[in-house]
Amino acid sequence: MGCTRIIVTHYGGPDALQVVEEECPEPKRGEVRVRVLAAGVCLPDIMAREGVHPETPAVPFTPGWDLVGVVDRLGDGIAGIEPGQTVAALPIHGAYAEFICLPQRELVPVPPGLDAAEAVSLILNYVTAYQMLYRSAKVRSGQRVLFHGASGGVGTALLQLGRLAELEMYGTCSSRGAPAVSELGGVPIDYRNQDYVQEIHRLTGEGVDAVFDPIGGTHLWHSRMALRPGGRVVGYGNTTSLRGEGLGSARTGRRNRLHGIPIYALYIAGGWLLPGRKRIVPYSIQTLKRLKPALFRQDLIALLDLLQQQKIKPLIAQRFPLAEARSAQEMLGKGGVIGKIVLVPNRSALESGPA
Ligand SMILES: NC(=O)c1ccc[n+]([C@@H]2O[C@H](COP(=O)([O-])OP(=O)(O)OC[C@H]3O[C@@H](n4cnc5c(N)ncnc54)[C@H](OP(=O)(O)O)[C@@H]3O)[C@@H](O)[C@H]2O)c1
Repeated sequence: MGCTRIIVTHYGGPDALQVVEEECPEPKRGEVRVRVLAAGVCLPDIMAREGVHPETPAVPFTPGWDLVGVVDRLGDGIAGIEPGQTVAALPIHGAYAEFICLPQRELVPVPPGLDAAEAVSLILNYVTAYQMLYRSAKVRSGQRVLFHGASGGVGTALLQLGRLAELEMYGTCSSRGAPAVSELGGVPIDYRNQDYVQEIHRLTGEGVDAVFDPIGGTHLWHSRMALRPGGRVVGYGNTTSLRGEGLGSARTGRRNRLHGIPIYALYIAGGWLLPGRKRIVPYSIQTLKRLKPALFRQDLIALLDLLQQQKIKPLIAQRFPLAEARSAQEMLGKGGVIGKIVLVPNRSALESGPA
């Protein structure tokens, strides 16, 4: 049986993405083959395509951090899971495909009746948001928080979960994202035309309890200035390696996967050494999942439950057929996307509905 997969042929721009048709993969012992119903498209996919994300595989590789799909075939030695069951997984790469084979331990059951695109939005974006809120920042009702990139994939997840946690929320975004941030209960701050540190101090007086910063670089230190004494910045990305100083696809030359790490280390140390008890703590979903896989499973199950109870509602920016992955990444790369872009297997799956 033939099936479709997307590969990154070289580190660079969207032209590095190619559609390949090939034999379907067969599950090895201990593996389960999953027919993908929805795969998330995220900034880390683009960073891996550009060769600047710490999790960048060697080329050629299939991108795609997260997926929801249906169990299709079982390898030898599999028990406790049946063909037809809907599952979620965070393979980090490989999800831009019609079929993927994964170890059984990677699969989390998805309750019936959920829309696959909404469910896939929970895996990377909402687990990241949830773990940063409750495990890194340990937020409590009534606290003040600042979310950078508030109208993006992780940002809208932070706003929805922050509203449930009864936080007072501020969110940086471009002017296009401001209505979405207000709608989700945050006070928008236009990062392109306002100094967010000044704005936070004008609006709150002493500053916020926590800042969630995916931008990285010197931006982390600026975020620290928005804290009240005793607050913390949760640093979870390095968007500056893609934007700002810009990379990449327009330029030739070396791509450094780890170039943001030393500055993180410096700022973490600075946070401890300087007065004011304002800490900078790093967060990485993949590191926490590798160290404590049970927490990832537990938190994803809690979020799927919140989705089923309709307490959260992921914003789907657009659904693209798998073969149009390049257009999907081009759209995300241009910026201004509100919520999550999702790949579905084909045109007939573009409508929402139960998985
Ligand atoms: N550590 C982890 O475990 C983890 C997990 C998931 C994601 N991440 C990181 O999270 C980041 C966001 O990923 P995503 O998929 O949510 O991306 P996304 O959907 O593209 O959202 C990024 C948002 O950031 C905004 N933005 C860009 N520059 C900004 C700035 N200087 N100040 C404030 N906002 C700015 C963009 O708004 P405009 O386009 O309107 O300017 C966009 O809404 C990435 O860096 C990714 O690597 C980390």
